[in-house]
Amino acid sequence: MNVAMNIPIDTIYMNHASIGPTTRQVNNLLQETTSQLSRYGEAALDLDKMIATWDNVRSLTANLIGGSQDGIINSTNTASGLHIAADLMVGEYHSNGNIVITELEFTTNSYIWQQIVARYDMELRVAGFDGQHFEFEDKIDNSTVLVCISFVQFSNGYRADLKRIAQLAHDHGAKIAVDAIQGLGAVPIDVEDLDIDFMASGLYKWMLGPMGTGIAYIKPQLLEEHDSFLVGWFSDQNFEQMSHHEFHPWADARRFQQSLGPIFYAIERTVEIISELNPQKTFQHILALQDKLIANLEDSTYQLDTVLETSHRSGILRFKHPAAEQVVNKLKEEGTITSFRDNGIRISPHFHNTTEQITTLSEQMLAIDQDL
Ligand SMILES: Cc1ncc(COP(=O)(O)O)c(C=O)c1O
Repeated sequence: MNVAMNIPIDTIYMNHASIGPTTRQVNNLLQETTSQLSRYGEAALDLDKMIATWDNVRSLTANLIGGSQDGIINSTNTASGLHIAADLMVGEYHSNGNIVITELEFTTNSYIWQQIVARYDMELRVAGFDGQHFEFEDKIDNSTVLVCISFVQFSNGYRADLKRIAQLAHDHGAKIAVDAIQGLGAVPIDVEDLDIDFMASGLYKWMLGPMGTGIAYIKPQLLEEHDSFLVGWFSDQNFEQMSHHEFHPWADARRFQQSLGPIFYAIERTVEIISELNPQKTFQHILALQDKLIANLEDSTYQLDTVLETSHRSGILRFKHPAAEQVVNKLKEEGTITSFRDNGIRISPHFHNTTEQITTLSEQMLAIDQDL
């Protein structure tokens, strides 16, 4: 598939860990649908087409993440997917219980659980990171209800060993929820193989989808024992009957699909594009670009601050530099977009970036360092 980007020719964009620029195909679809809505309102909507698209999105997503379509719905962002997981777990919260996160988590994945433990009089345990591994051993025990962790850490790009952590959680009778936004679209994932209970992700970073869109996965077996009030009109099997009636929710995860709209056409194209690019190939391309950058900066002031062990790599690299924030600002003035995170320069290239761009970025970074 020929995927076109709208990024200007004089801009080098390596900040997909922040916002992924929407592809031209998705942007065109968004413009088309909003323009139709602005002209014709409800007359622009084709419910049958939207429902068929919804089914296709769930099937495409299932192929992309390796789970069953029965466990997949669309949310608006990562937090809204994690809210479903948090609410489905309510029956298992108890005052001796604990929830385990890590010290590297993005705020979303800490705030939600801070709120839950306060409400249910539980304990939030934060596993440390020793620079190579998470220190879960004295955190996860038989009172742990849920372990919630990012697939890839937003700040230093550390990819979690999800299989081991899921196993550890399950051995103690706990569930595992994964915030996948920093990996999905760049790093292959298989929720069934990893034995993940819940996964949530926005589609607006590495998936290059529209802001305000996301996916959530719930292991289908959990739907038999767990329920949530987080429902909307599409949660009902007879949603086309709009006046008040008894609630007959879908047996599968569609029970938590709160709404549907023409944004689904853009979501469908987003998932199609990332799937056709092939996550395995995308990841290999990203790693090759990163390797070149690491080699180019090897003997410089830039100190790599990302774990390079293969199983922990992702789309993100972070470099330390005494004037990291200035470097990021100066790069921006030169049209190269990265970001400043945790006193470091976070660089997150994607499938469309080239080795020539890596050469330019390296030259810019070395020249900025000389000038400082
Ligand atoms: C790991 C991680 N989780 C979540 C988010 C954002 O959450 P949401 O999609 O709910 O806006 C980010 C954004 O940077 C992130 O890096």
